[in-house]
Amino acid sequence: MNVLLFGSGGRESAFAWKIAQSQLLDELYIAPGNPGVMEYGKCVDLKWNNFNHVKDFCLNKYIDMVIVGPEDPLVNGLADYFSNTQALSHIYFIGPKKVGAQLEGSKDFSKRFMARHEIPTASYKTFRKDQVQEAVDYLKTVEAPYVLKADGLAGGKGVVIHEDLNDAIIEIKEMLADEKFGEASSQVVIEEFLEGMEFSIFVLTDGNGYFLLPEAKDYKRINEGDKGLNTGGMGAISPVPFITKSIFEEVKQNIIEPTIKGLSVDKIEYVGFIFFGLILTKKGVQVIEYNCRMGDPETEAVLPRVEEDILMVMKESATKTIISRTLKVNKQTALTVMKVSGGYPEKYSKGIIINGIEKNRNDDCIVFQAGTKMEDNKLITNGGRVLCVTGLDIDPLNARKKAYALLQTIKFKGEYSRHDIGNDLGIK
Ligand code: AMP
Ligand code: GLY
Repeated sequence: MNVLLFGSGGRESAFAWKIAQSQLLDELYIAPGNPGVMEYGKCVDLKWNNFNHVKDFCLNKYIDMVIVGPEDPLVNGLADYFSNTQALSHIYFIGPKKVGAQLEGSKDFSKRFMARHEIPTASYKTFRKDQVQEAVDYLKTVEAPYVLKADGLAGGKGVVIHEDLNDAIIEIKEMLADEKFGEASSQVVIEEFLEGMEFSIFVLTDGNGYFLLPEAKDYKRINEGDKGLNTGGMGAISPVPFITKSIFEEVKQNIIEPTIKGLSVDKIEYVGFIFFGLILTKKGVQVIEYNCRMGDPETEAVLPRVEEDILMVMKESATKTIISRTLKVNKQTALTVMKVSGGYPEKYSKGIIINGIEKNRNDDCIVFQAGTKMEDNKLITNGGRVLCVTGLDIDPLNARKKAYALLQTIKFKGEYSRHDIGNDLGIK
């Protein structure tokens, strides 16, 4: 099979690494990719939103399967374009169409979906731009902390939580009236605050059946002890020790199956990944959010544990022949640590030389590049999250040691990473 993978981050590096091991693979193209994925395929200068160019490329290279890493192309209709374009409609496409991608693209859509299908989640109310006063009045009736969510995609920054009512009132006005997050905050969801341990579960579905992937936990905040600003993710771990078999069963019965059934009842065709952002509360597991893609850096911890041919399972999903089951996984712990540019997630520099990266030689300690670029034969930084390392071992502590040992051999000026990945789970 000839495969085209869209994206350039650590998640896509992990996909490329896994796809390259598939028996079904002929050629892998990654658009745009990064220097790290050149070990696994060819990087191509192809922008997903230039639909004509994408079409020509797919036809010229006899592409059989397209896999989309990030949410943007999906929320903006790339899957719809493939399905509606006769010359492309034979291509297997992994990623939902616009309407399914709304599970991530609109918080209000996903909350209504969950309410309709009785999927446990925080209680909520949505307010439009012309309902600022109603939103303020509502805030006065609910308890702190106040959870405010921009309806649309806001680059991971659209959720704001305030302890103080006055701060929440200022925030809601900024979001709705001043469009703090642009069009994304022209509607805002105000939701009940949930307390508990967060974790994530992933499935690959064809709209009827699903493959269950290993669970993961990510470390969202920039500082150790999970403090400071939210980031795309500073590390991840899989499996998550506190997720017992019975919690898994509860998630399957109360969340995964009603979600997939709900899509079918609502006549939403869905081929692709669903990322369930979950929280274990005193009242049981509840959904914090859906994403219409895999997580980053969760993918870098999850895929190295999957023991199956990833293109075969994707093909089953695209041909809608999935018989629901858990994918075969190894029993190792995968622990991923991200190395970021100093200043991230706020202002940071690019173009800094990276030293110490070598080709991946071992399957138990893998470097996944993300914000990197090649210039004048030198590898330089090209983003906030620059690269990550995943260590694997049957002993979680060894997985952690391997990840940190390799990470510290890779260096660039101003680098930063958290040194407490796994600490909260007793892996230290
Ligand atoms: P989201 O983009 O919806 O995943 O939200 C980002 C982060 O905000 C989550 O990972 C949680 O840590 C936090 N969060 C979102 N919704 C809630 C909620 N209802 N209660 C408590 N924390 C929340
Ligand atoms: N690491 C969180 C996400 O991918 O959304």
